[in-house]
Amino acid sequence: MLREIAADLWVAEQPLRYLGFEMGRRMAVVRLAGGGLLVHSPVGLDDQLREELAELGDLRFVVPASILHGHLYMEQYRDAYPQATLYGVPGLERKRPDLRFDGMLGDSAEPAWSDDLDQKRFEGHRVAGRVLNEVEFLHRKTRTLIAGDLCFNIGPSWPLKTRLLAWGPRMRRRLGPTVAFRLGIRDRGAARRSVERILEWDFDRILPGHGEIVEAGGREKLRRGLAWLLR
Ligand SMILES: [Fe+2]
Repeated sequence: MLREIAADLWVAEQPLRYLGFEMGRRMAVVRLAGGGLLVHSPVGLDDQLREELAELGDLRFVVPASILHGHLYMEQYRDAYPQATLYGVPGLERKRPDLRFDGMLGDSAEPAWSDDLDQKRFEGHRVAGRVLNEVEFLHRKTRTLIAGDLCFNIGPSWPLKTRLLAWGPRMRRRLGPTVAFRLGIRDRGAARRSVERILEWDFDRILPGHGEIVEAGGREKLRRGLAWLLR
């Protein structure tokens, strides 16, 4: 299930149907300098995935992408890895009262992973009256942005509905959030400042929350994809 992307970085992908749209989802696994594993936006856990993870190291941290769906299956990791530390984002504790979070992701990396990862919050977005609280990560040594819904990269092989959602009514392929996500931006200034800070990071590859991995030129592609927000 796990696919090696670069040194100490793996992904696993799974189908996801959300609000009637096929969009798939991607988990990222980072092996930290101390040897422990951090899992971002976990996919469903089964015996095979557990074995593959065990070969990589001790699972230490589980983090969501946002309050939307990056928290799916966290309960399976809570059960399977009682020693792991589960992080939420503010607001997720109300959506997932079944989970006990050990901490909340903030706007800067936790000391436990700050040698390997940077993190920044994407601000200014609300969904269904709640702040999205999406956190983007930078895996410094592989120059990889680990993104959530801020970054869809839907290719031509996706169903028409998904393409329409991600590309907009003019059906022009682009990297960036969906039309629905754009409508959720309530504080444009805050969103723009967040994106400007993320674009200060030195990254080349992007692991989008949904859609195809961008192997190179990611920073420029994301800057172009978010030009409407940066103006
Ligand atoms: Fe997502």
